[in-house]
Amino acid sequence: MKNNIHPIFERLLQKEDREKRLGQRAKVLWLTGLSGSGKSTIAQALERKLYNEGFFPQVLDGDNIRVGINKNLSFSIEDRRENIRRIAEVAKLYLNTGVITLNSFISPTIEIRNFAKEIIGEENFIEIFINTPLEICEQRDVKGLYKKARAGEIKGFTGIDSPYEAPQNPDLEVKTEDLTIEQSAQKIYDYILPLISL
Ligand code: ADX
Repeated sequence: MKNNIHPIFERLLQKEDREKRLGQRAKVLWLTGLSGSGKSTIAQALERKLYNEGFFPQVLDGDNIRVGINKNLSFSIEDRRENIRRIAEVAKLYLNTGVITLNSFISPTIEIRNFAKEIIGEENFIEIFINTPLEICEQRDVKGLYKKARAGEIKGFTGIDSPYEAPQNPDLEVKTEDLTIEQSAQKIYDYILPLISL
């Protein structure tokens, strides 16, 4: 283009334009925690709450993503990393679309979560530790997977024979033991409200 002049009407829409339309600031909420810690249930309750309050949220969830875009991935550490890399790239696309994503993935290591943060950008990445002790996750065993892992029917299960490294400095920690789902969702909501409000 002559003189390097790019008329303003030729520019692509920016994240800020879409945020304005949606009436929110887009963020990536990254919920990490053990299998059965309550991440997905809390994310769903929070999604509903955000929606009811006029926001435009989207849950991205391990169990769903792994039957679709990531169905070729196993639970080896390398594949978990690839799982998280793809999710982080997807969350970044949503971010640019102005959407608030609620990402619910074990994302078991500090390195893997830092990787996600790097892809998304620190300023838009909110790490939320869903802290439910292993004993309780195992007691609940909603999907019956801990039982199978203990019986050796599943190898490399997080918390049993594959590591989970708790976040050392999360933006928010939710100790679910003494909270209902609603209270946990409310706690996150209260924390993020100033960050997602225009
Ligand atoms: S992550 O480690 O790659 O972040 P992700 O959140 O996508 O994991 O998937 C976790 C879910 O997959 C668990 O909640 C559980 O239902 C299922 N799962 C199946 N095998 C395993 C395993 N070996 N370790 C952990 N979760 C598993």
